[in-house]
Amino acid sequence: MKKELIYDYKDYWRLGFHLMPPEGWLNDPNGLCWFQDYYHVFFQYSPDDPAGGIKHWGHYRSRDLLEWEYMGIALSPEEPYDRDGVYSGSAIVNDQGMHLFYTGNVKMAGDFDFITEGRQSNTIHVQSKDGLIFSEKRCILNHDDYPKHMTCHIRDPKIWIEDRGHIKAYYMILGARNVNNQGEALIYKSENLFDWFFVGEVMSPEELGFMWECPDVFEVNGTKVLCISPQGIKALEFDYQNVYQSGYFAYEGNLTGIYNLGRFKEWDRGFDFYAPQTFEDGKGRRILIGWMGAADTPQHENPTIAMGWQHALTIPREITVTGGQLRQVPIEELKKLRHKKIELDQYGNMQLYPAYEAVIENHGNADLRIMFSETFQARYDAENHIFSILFTNGADGDGKGRGSRRFRLADCRKAHIFVDTSSVEIFLNDGEEVFTTRFYPQAGKSNLSVLGDRYHMDIWELSKMKITEF
Ligand code: FRU
Repeated sequence: MKKELIYDYKDYWRLGFHLMPPEGWLNDPNGLCWFQDYYHVFFQYSPDDPAGGIKHWGHYRSRDLLEWEYMGIALSPEEPYDRDGVYSGSAIVNDQGMHLFYTGNVKMAGDFDFITEGRQSNTIHVQSKDGLIFSEKRCILNHDDYPKHMTCHIRDPKIWIEDRGHIKAYYMILGARNVNNQGEALIYKSENLFDWFFVGEVMSPEELGFMWECPDVFEVNGTKVLCISPQGIKALEFDYQNVYQSGYFAYEGNLTGIYNLGRFKEWDRGFDFYAPQTFEDGKGRRILIGWMGAADTPQHENPTIAMGWQHALTIPREITVTGGQLRQVPIEELKKLRHKKIELDQYGNMQLYPAYEAVIENHGNADLRIMFSETFQARYDAENHIFSILFTNGADGDGKGRGSRRFRLADCRKAHIFVDTSSVEIFLNDGEEVFTTRFYPQAGKSNLSVLGDRYHMDIWELSKMKITEF
């Protein structure tokens, strides 16, 4: 019998249908891929320190995105070229197997700023024939291979294949900070995944932060997308409310030649979302998973640190394109977690539950108020076309220091909500806008009450995913 892992509801903020670190700290999703009939999800992992520490790659796999096996630590920092962290990266699958690419972080001893000097960001390649055993590491790019006008901040390789009949080429995009403190991306090309040649830089027409982390390039239904997590964008009234952002440009042209980036749009409006990565699965779907957390935001507390762990990944979201617009839709597999329909009481309120899903159809497209707890509510203001989220009571409220967020929403026809003990993900108008946050209700249970003019709501209690040790 395999040991069932993790879901101990005595630790009541432990999530039921999200991937978390078995213990310790988790950040970015890494190496997402579909390989030999398994989904593989690697993640930035500091097993010994829930407050974050030196990074490894933890590893989960699943056949259906619902039952998971925790495979242990796949990559550890043990070589001179990655000794201070096996940083983020990606996977690509070909007929030789699974290939992982990541950044080996090295901080030299000495009095450096670690931006312009004192740091190495090496690009490393690892192979696996079965997704279980990983080959020796091979450093394929180091500072001599990066353009001279870059700082030491270059990382997070993501690979894609361009297959034009008989000509197949691999491309790698890396996030970078140049010496003018502008964020940008570097692109390398290879025919064999071992030898890589620099082929270009990608910059936005207007400056967008000082560093781009975790870039990604993909295509959905003929729409080409460049995804980045920029650091250092100034907050505007409705946009860029977090310290660091994640978003995308739909673009035309060729990133290694002439290209035209569209408007930068944030993936998610919530407090806890960063560094998403996408991959294509066996069904041809483009799936996105993000880190349900945020860096450098100490005012937003996560009290699970006291229980020895911190952070989680978002639910997988399918990326679709309709009417030229990208949407994020919860993967349909999650419907299998619907365990029973929740009946509302005579006032239309729900009792307390640890995990549930609600679909609210706002027929009148009128004002809507969704209350998750006494100190946490979401609101649609139809007159001003603004969707807002408000946590009250500061560090004593369920938001543990999270405050308010506002963004423009032309209309609010539908809110699809997933609550999982200490997380909330709200998909508006079938994924046109998404809001993700952690929150910490008493005993990991919350209820829902909705005020609106003419709406219909269905709610289901959700079961937990099954996670076993491999
Ligand atoms: C994004 C990031 C990446 C880096 C990793 C280190 O959250 O800063 O750029 O590779 O985390 O854990």
